[in-house]
Amino acid sequence: MSPQQPVDGRDSVLTLRGISKTFGAVAALTDIDLDVAAGQVVAVVGDNGAGKSTLVKILSGVHPPDSGTITFGSRVVHIPTPAAAHHLGIATVFQDLALCENLNVVENLFLGQELRPLRLNTVAMETRSWDLLRQLSAKIPTVRVPVASLSGGQRQTVAIARSLLGDPKIIILDEPTAALGVAQTAEVLNLVERLRENGLGVIMVSHNMADVKAVADTVVVLRLGRNNGVFDVRDVSSEDIVAAITGASDNVVTQRAARRAVPGDATVEEGPRQ
Ligand SMILES: Nc1ncnc2c1ncn2[C@@H]1O[C@H](COP(=O)(O)OP(=O)(O)OP(=O)(O)O)[C@@H](O)[C@H]1O
Ligand SMILES: [Mg+2]
Repeated sequence: MSPQQPVDGRDSVLTLRGISKTFGAVAALTDIDLDVAAGQVVAVVGDNGAGKSTLVKILSGVHPPDSGTITFGSRVVHIPTPAAAHHLGIATVFQDLALCENLNVVENLFLGQELRPLRLNTVAMETRSWDLLRQLSAKIPTVRVPVASLSGGQRQTVAIARSLLGDPKIIILDEPTAALGVAQTAEVLNLVERLRENGLGVIMVSHNMADVKAVADTVVVLRLGRNNGVFDVRDVSSEDIVAAITGASDNVVTQRAARRAVPGDATVEEGPRQ
């Protein structure tokens, strides 16, 4: 039998089961499960120290897990290096974006990419850059300006476009809107929607409940390194997500457990939340 679990009726592209990671005495992640399907946006949320970055680093080949399995497509895989993640088709846009301020958009897009640079002339690179940016419906006026002159949202766009060069199946965005204003945040959320329309699986680490509600399909809550709830975004309020993040005793998880314990009480599902 395939180890993949259906996600909303779709097959999971990336499946984590029982992933654990310790740093010395610190249990950063314990027994984490995660499923991401093509065309699905999974928000990973949690308080400071919940393990979000550790999870991202495991998937991007920075840290190996101590135990657990990662299935990509139908194969169990190991991701020992960032190059291995890239090769598999897992691209990560880290929070600092790692762009070079003094280089222009095209130069940033192709910086460090193993694309036989001798055979790529500047015209071909510029054409490919516009292709990528069009794919994202990106609002960048010219690709010949230094990145230093772009807005935060435009920089995020360049970083996302760069990650698409390797033709990934999964893209991980670490706090993509953390440093952005309202209009730029909307621009980046539009980008996330383009990624989903293009059939990518998106993992979005976020602290912002409005962003999560606006763009995610599924919300995975981490608390103290453990899964503390997986929600369909349509079924959950921001307050419930926050309760799961903080571990408030009267949170959605305990409420659900309580509802299950009262068989036949049909009104409870529809009743007001506490
Ligand atoms: N390289 C490391 N060495 C030692 N401990 C680490 C290391 N990386 C993470 N940790 C610990 O693992 C736990 C999870 O950290 P992690 O950075 O994954 O949390 P996070 O959810 O990303 O938090 P934040 O929202 O603050 O970024 C924390 O207790 C952290 O101190
Ligand atoms: Mg972090």
